Amino acid sequence: MDQAESLRKRMEERFAGAPAVYRNKAKTLAVVSGKGGVGKSNISLNTALALSDKGKKVLVIDLDVGMGNIDILIGRQALYTVVDVLNHKMPIHRALSTGPKGIRYISGGTGLNTMFELNRDKWAFFLKELSTVLNDFDLVVFDMGAGLSKDQLPFALSADEILVVTTPEPTSIMDAYSAIKHLTLNGRELRLKVIVNRCINQKDGISAFLRLSNTVNAFLQQKLEYAGPIPEDPLVSKAVVEQQPFLIRHPRSKLSSAVYLLADSLLESRTVKTEGNRSFIDKLSSFFRRGNAT
Ligand SMILES: Nc1ncnc2c1ncn2[C@@H]1O[C@H](COP(=O)(O)OP(=O)(O)OP(=O)(O)O)[C@@H](O)[C@H]1O
Ligand SMILES: [Mg+2]
Repeated sequence: MDQAESLRKRMEERFAGAPAVYRNKAKTLAVVSGKGGVGKSNISLNTALALSDKGKKVLVIDLDVGMGNIDILIGRQALYTVVDVLNHKMPIHRALSTGPKGIRYISGGTGLNTMFELNRDKWAFFLKELSTVLNDFDLVVFDMGAGLSKDQLPFALSADEILVVTTPEPTSIMDAYSAIKHLTLNGRELRLKVIVNRCINQKDGISAFLRLSNTVNAFLQQKLEYAGPIPEDPLVSKAVVEQQPFLIRHPRSKLSSAVYLLADSLLESRTVKTEGNRSFIDKLSSFFRRGNAT
């Protein structure tokens, strides 16, 4: 039994009876990394703000349950968290908070050891709620924790696009490779884009991307797309300390320009949802149903 099959089997045993096939409007993006602390949360949040500036309705879901920090980066205390929806069956609309530029977000919260331990009833509720909310937004960004826990893996594998964040450091590139290997071993037809954060110059980003994509092509036969570089900039940690996103405080900085470019590239790449291209919830549900390949 391969890893994907055993993952599906384990989830299926726990949560048999998942909802029927769903079609959702929102494009789903999972922001992942191998190494932690490479900038996923700052990129998720500021890209969401840039997309909102471009007239899109954006939702950020902090799936770094227990360690989430989207609300800290925004400087607002969320009333409810994803744990309220997952564990206490709170309707998802109640758990949404409003951030700057009208973005909505659900913070990570604490008090949930593992989503894997949730019973089938709670999972079915969560999938139904998620499906509803996916129709209300143009884009939904899932900010993941460092590495990819078994809780987070199905979300990443189900997303329309997976944004892998790395820095130019060889250690970070190697960890990104490991994360991509984990994803490709467990999923099929993945659309993977690479963001190289903390670049000193453009060349930094391109050479890090080529290094990663050549290795991934050679050993995993998986295509990677380059989503672009984000510069190294002290404005990021300043924004974190001030608890105000850099895109709000310094919209005309090189840093923010790079994020606006990233937002453009995400909007350009259309994910056509056809019969053969199953929706996010449909794929996520398939982790609960026997015989449905991811
Ligand atoms: N472009 C950048 N320039 C300078 N510093 C940066 C940049 N991006 C991130 N950092 C630094 O890295 C820190 C971690 O960023 P962030 O919290 O977004 O990473 P993360 O990948 O979400 O971390 P975790 O894996 O813990 O969730 C920031 O607080 C900041 O100090
Ligand atoms: Mg984070």
